[in-house]
Amino acid sequence: MTVSPPRVYVSRPLPAAAMERLARHTDFEVWERQEVPPPREELLRRVARAEGLVCLLTERVDAELLDAAPRLRVVSQVAVGFDNIDVAAATARGVLVTNTPGVLTETTADCAWALLLAAARRIAEGDRYTRSGRWRSWELQLFLGRDVHGATLGIVGLGRIGAAVARRARGFDMRLLYYDPVRRPDLEAELGVEFADLERLLRESDFITIHTPLTPETTHLIGRRELALMKPTAILVNTSRGPVVDQAALADALRRGAIAGAGLDVFEAEPIPPDDPLLELDNAVLTPHIGSASVATRTRMATMAVENLVAALRGERPPNLVNPEAWPSRRGG
Ligand code: GLV
Repeated sequence: MTVSPPRVYVSRPLPAAAMERLARHTDFEVWERQEVPPPREELLRRVARAEGLVCLLTERVDAELLDAAPRLRVVSQVAVGFDNIDVAAATARGVLVTNTPGVLTETTADCAWALLLAAARRIAEGDRYTRSGRWRSWELQLFLGRDVHGATLGIVGLGRIGAAVARRARGFDMRLLYYDPVRRPDLEAELGVEFADLERLLRESDFITIHTPLTPETTHLIGRRELALMKPTAILVNTSRGPVVDQAALADALRRGAIAGAGLDVFEAEPIPPDDPLLELDNAVLTPHIGSASVATRTRMATMAVENLVAALRGERPPNLVNPEAWPSRRGG
């Protein structure tokens, strides 16, 4: 008797290596357009028969979707963050949820540094100016920025990515502060980072970089009050999730010069709406959520997501299980 391979829905084309592995182990359908996610109706229709779902941050996996997918056994997210997934709802239905931690740590830390340096040294503004034809001569006062070397860097969230950002700061001779609900004496010793409560970190840092997951506790962690505590010369970098920062309050602070600049890869709404005030501000460097977007890392993330999916569909415990609580109940059920 031949057993037919499990049906899987994939919400975006993946790099070739991951697609080949999917083809070997599953009977999959894929949403073919790279630049836009499947419309909600399409997603709900496609998951109806699926045992596995490979999805991105753009897919809302909630009770409605899970109820539309009675045969679903695993949701494999191609990202480390999974705030688009209602994990409790998945667990309640015995659906495994997996993510791709670790492989994107260094690439995302590189991106945070790229934004930090670009905002500090006004690189994006300088690029626009150079192209504009307005450049007249070498000027003593042209595009003066902020020194990164020797400055104080405040890291909000000292997880894997926050620690990788701290490691890079050593080359810039920086003083390092961190705030995290979990004290990390091991990293304090290894990286020379000093714990500070959020208020002190905000007051003392020249650069503040955010590396927290998005949870109810971290939503608008940086709001009007927190921005007011920052130095007028400070620069805020966010490569985590947009809603960790109150974006309207940030735009206001940048416009008033209450802080000097920002480097943002993530936004409260993505894509950022065309009328968002941030788009008018020269002291904000903006990128379209590309923190982990290197060729090698995106390939690893996709391959890892497929490995998680295939393991789960084979009845094996997937290597990167977000909801281990769903594992025994599924086995028992
Ligand atoms: C990207 O934002 C991720 O969470 O991997």
